[in-house]
Amino acid sequence: MSSVSTDSRAAVAAQLAEARAATFALLEPLSDDELARQWSPLQSPLVWDLAHIGHFEDAWIGQRVGGLSPVLEEGEELYDAFRHARDGRGGLPLLDPAAARDYLCRVRNRSLAVLGDESLGAEGDPLLEDGFVFGLVLQHERQHVETMLQTIALAGLLHPGGGPRPVPGSGDVLVQAGPVRLGADDAWAYDNERPLHERELAAFRIDATPVTNRDWVSFVGDGGYRRRELWSDEGWAWREADGAEAPLGWGDGTVRRFGRDEPLDPDEPVQHVCFHEAEAFARWSGARLPTEEEWEKAAKAGLLRGIGEVWEWTASPFVGYPGFRAFPYPEYSEVFFGDEYRVLRGGSWATHPSVARLSFRNWDFPIRRQIFAGLRLARDADPIASLLGPGDRRAALEADVREGLASSPKRLPPKWHYDEEGSRLFGAITQLPEYYLTRREREILEAHAADIAAASGADTLVELGAGTSEKTRLLLDALRAAGQLRRIVVLDVDEVTLRESVARLAAEYPAAEVKGVVGDLERHLAELPREGRRLVCFLGSSIGNFDVEHRPRFLRALRAAMAPGESFLLGVDLVKDPGRLVAAYDDAAGVTARFSLNLLSVLNDELGADFDLSTFEHVPRWDAGRELMDIRLRSREPQHVRIPALDLEVDFAEGEELHTEISAKFRRERIEAELREAGFEPRAWWTDEAGDFGLSLSAAV
Ligand SMILES: C[S@@+](CC[C@H](N)C(=O)[O-])C[C@H]1O[C@@H](n2cnc3c(N)ncnc32)[C@H](O)[C@@H]1O
Repeated sequence: MSSVSTDSRAAVAAQLAEARAATFALLEPLSDDELARQWSPLQSPLVWDLAHIGHFEDAWIGQRVGGLSPVLEEGEELYDAFRHARDGRGGLPLLDPAAARDYLCRVRNRSLAVLGDESLGAEGDPLLEDGFVFGLVLQHERQHVETMLQTIALAGLLHPGGGPRPVPGSGDVLVQAGPVRLGADDAWAYDNERPLHERELAAFRIDATPVTNRDWVSFVGDGGYRRRELWSDEGWAWREADGAEAPLGWGDGTVRRFGRDEPLDPDEPVQHVCFHEAEAFARWSGARLPTEEEWEKAAKAGLLRGIGEVWEWTASPFVGYPGFRAFPYPEYSEVFFGDEYRVLRGGSWATHPSVARLSFRNWDFPIRRQIFAGLRLARDADPIASLLGPGDRRAALEADVREGLASSPKRLPPKWHYDEEGSRLFGAITQLPEYYLTRREREILEAHAADIAAASGADTLVELGAGTSEKTRLLLDALRAAGQLRRIVVLDVDEVTLRESVARLAAEYPAAEVKGVVGDLERHLAELPREGRRLVCFLGSSIGNFDVEHRPRFLRALRAAMAPGESFLLGVDLVKDPGRLVAAYDDAAGVTARFSLNLLSVLNDELGADFDLSTFEHVPRWDAGRELMDIRLRSREPQHVRIPALDLEVDFAEGEELHTEISAKFRRERIEAELREAGFEPRAWWTDEAGDFGLSLSAAV
């Protein structure tokens, strides 16, 4: 602050004065009794907010910066927001309105003295950098003006109040895939807006304007509040308990606003709806809520109209940005991080413009309706979200090849088998007489898909490493037959196969929303869509491709990406006669060998390498000690391979082996122990009649 000029100190003082004038003016029309009453368990008595504004200012400026003792001895006990829940504040021995105003004036006089102190900030306190602490206090007061307006509205007190302005118009805009800079590094930005960072987003569509009263009248008229299928479980539970039939305050063509009934303006953005209502409306519209990242990207690109009329619910839970650091205290945001809250963006007609910045993140419980909140709709531009853009895929391939071919023994991760041709060859493998895995897993699914649908209670099926999702149809049919199926999400590294699969699934399951995610299940589990009650499937014993170190990491990452109670269905190939195992990976027709060699074709095609496939042979071995099939490509002769894209040359000695894949085989006890270790509770276990293959259903706990 020492570097801050007298002019900027004067500007801060002027803003503090403006905020204070607004606070006093807001409460001016109300009687002492109205100020002192606890009108709702959701809101503090107005006189509590008033004195709390003074307490917060005194705690940060007078006490923390100025080193002074409290202006009000019992300030901390009465007015610290964490001491007493809102519904208990009316019973506290609060200052009366006149005393509270006087308290605020005394605190303010001291704050201005601190602000004017020339030696301020000499020790380089980060709180004083660019006057941060004054910004904190100023924004806090302005935010409480809005909170008090909510209370006044909820209490139905006669007051000039206000409301959103009409935002007529309709239509949506396409936001292209690409990066967005999220957050802010402005001097007065809050900790939860920091650090400014970049994220890649898939393309999406978003409405240019917020949802209006006109739209909502149609939703109500279409039975929106009675149609169970439009609501999440949590949302329906709220609706049943609350009995809501329309937004808070709606009458017959009217809206109750600050003590008066006014005609409903069809062009005004709807307000006083909770997250659950917003979500049900979005589903009714065949759309969804935007994530906060999408909202911010569209807003920063200047594509949205009507920002600042109503807070807009987003689909996002309130969590810290990567690299988040609590400042100046964890109680501002960090203690609220988690799944319980949803983020709102944009600001309402009651929010001061300095607070309603595009990076500002508000948050509240999904059941709250007293806030001046509405929504805006978004849609996927493409049912496929690519988390592995061409650049990412290429970078990951290059890194794996560089590292794998430099290591000893040489190795490459199995995921690079799967380009379009690799996926086609895998499909052919599943038809081979020797490859019993697919048939056995199908046999189990035929017998138990209905049990799995019932036990999971899922409305959303998520499949990892989905490929063509052939066997998965059995589960989808069972979910549909039980009337549960709402959403299908398939993730795979191979975009070509995934696109075809999504198109076929969408045609076969028209009532479900189908999404594809091009991604790597070792990196992108946290970014899987979270809507619905999910049954996550990982079939085909693909988990056997992880070695013993990577398996727990994968399972833990998956558990972290799931909510308690969601289900995980895992297919595992079981330990058996080595002769049958080796045959399954060394078929007579040589299809598995071609699949194995396809890894080298991928390097030739994508990196311009000059591997001669005829000089390598497919070598599958049973490793009895580790109970896994160990698959390698052996060089038949000494050779020199060039990989121009990496500017890399690699030598292979005659007989040298390149490790390409393992396929671990399982025993029930071992895989169940690993599941438990990762935070899953195994609930059911089935095998095929011959006992070749196992299917485990567990719950995230
Ligand atoms: C053995 S196939 C199994 C396909 C199908 N789930 C089944 O049971 O028949 C493995 C599938 O996982 C995909 N895959 C392999 N590694 C992956 C990775 N790291 N991330 C995402 N998908 C991957 C492949 O493209 C392929 O479709």
